[in-house]
Amino acid sequence: MGIEEWDVKSKFDLPVGRVWLNASHQGPLPNRAADAVGEMVRWKQQPHHMMSSAPFTEVPESLRSELAGLLSVPSDELALANSSSYGLHLVANGLDLTTGDEVIVARNDFPSDILPWTRLESRGVNVRQLEPQGQVLTAEEIALEMTSRTRVVCLTWVHSLSGHVIDLDAIGQLCRDNDVLFVVNGSQGVGGIPISPSEHPIDVLTSVGFKYLCGPYGTGFCWLSSRAMDRVAANKLYWLSSLSADDLAAEVLDLDAIQEPAGARRHDVFGTANFFNFAALSESAALIAEAGVPRIHAHNLSLSTHLASGVDPARYEVQDRGDERCWSAVLFLRPVERSLEDAARELDEAGIDVARRRGMIRVAPHFYNGSDDIERAIAALNGN
Ligand SMILES: Cc1ncc(COP(=O)(O)O)c(C=O)c1O
Repeated sequence: MGIEEWDVKSKFDLPVGRVWLNASHQGPLPNRAADAVGEMVRWKQQPHHMMSSAPFTEVPESLRSELAGLLSVPSDELALANSSSYGLHLVANGLDLTTGDEVIVARNDFPSDILPWTRLESRGVNVRQLEPQGQVLTAEEIALEMTSRTRVVCLTWVHSLSGHVIDLDAIGQLCRDNDVLFVVNGSQGVGGIPISPSEHPIDVLTSVGFKYLCGPYGTGFCWLSSRAMDRVAANKLYWLSSLSADDLAAEVLDLDAIQEPAGARRHDVFGTANFFNFAALSESAALIAEAGVPRIHAHNLSLSTHLASGVDPARYEVQDRGDERCWSAVLFLRPVERSLEDAARELDEAGIDVARRRGMIRVAPHFYNGSDDIERAIAALNGN
């Protein structure tokens, strides 16, 4: 069964008069996730629901297991986060990088991938911001710049500012061959393009939960391979990861008995039972898993191909999508002989929601969009 027959639209509350083609910015919250937030709000309005320590464990663990299922990894390899930046910073700060060590990033990458490392420059770490010849760095370009001091390569999987997808296997293998940690920001792909990080030579996969996973803002995760787990030190010990409210009932609290949590849990964000956000992201991830990410990706690609073939070239220049073997569904359109502002205003007035990025229109369909949405978008783009 294709995605459209699955009637994904009925699982969301998108406004009738508008077409949301901006998943690369925010994925809308599905109805079942909104219901979960409602339940969590009720708990907070009537806090006796939160008296026992069970929900403080159940909410984060149920999210961890949903995400683990989606990524086909063991749940103890996943740290729960509030962003992609959280995971990138925990890795940057947990590695013992010192004077002369090098980190390779792409100069045109999303700032989240660069800033955690440039902070380390005051320690003498050398952050090499490479300019790709195309939109994203290739393994060959990185190989030319890698030295015996390179410790980390950190890149976005699906580039936010072009939609191009990096070659995870070629870059990852280069990193493995040189004992370099490969850190990948999957924020623009996870939930929209199939990925199981342990099937690729990558060491860390971070992501936000609020784009293609359709979770609330302020959510994310960080997956760590065993290689990364060995190298990234935890720089905190959170009481609630080892103790519970029940332990607080004891006459004497034995802090010496507190153990660092096993696996990636030691890196969890504080406030791990973030009820409103995490209960909702669990439901969003469960919906994505039920729809099936391979099926979502095929659907999204067919929407963007439909749109690309319908746009009048006299009005928009469809940008190159990179290597066809690993296209994302994100399209960039450059207005012809019109300002970006005029083009964006026209689309907004027609009820088509897209993003403006690097002087272009970014179109990012997802599984709740149908071919009817694309027909409407094409009509608006072509000024009909
Ligand atoms: C690749 C990428 N990473 C990260 C983010 C933002 O996440 P964070 O606030 O976690 O850095 C975005 C977009 O908002 C993005 O496109």
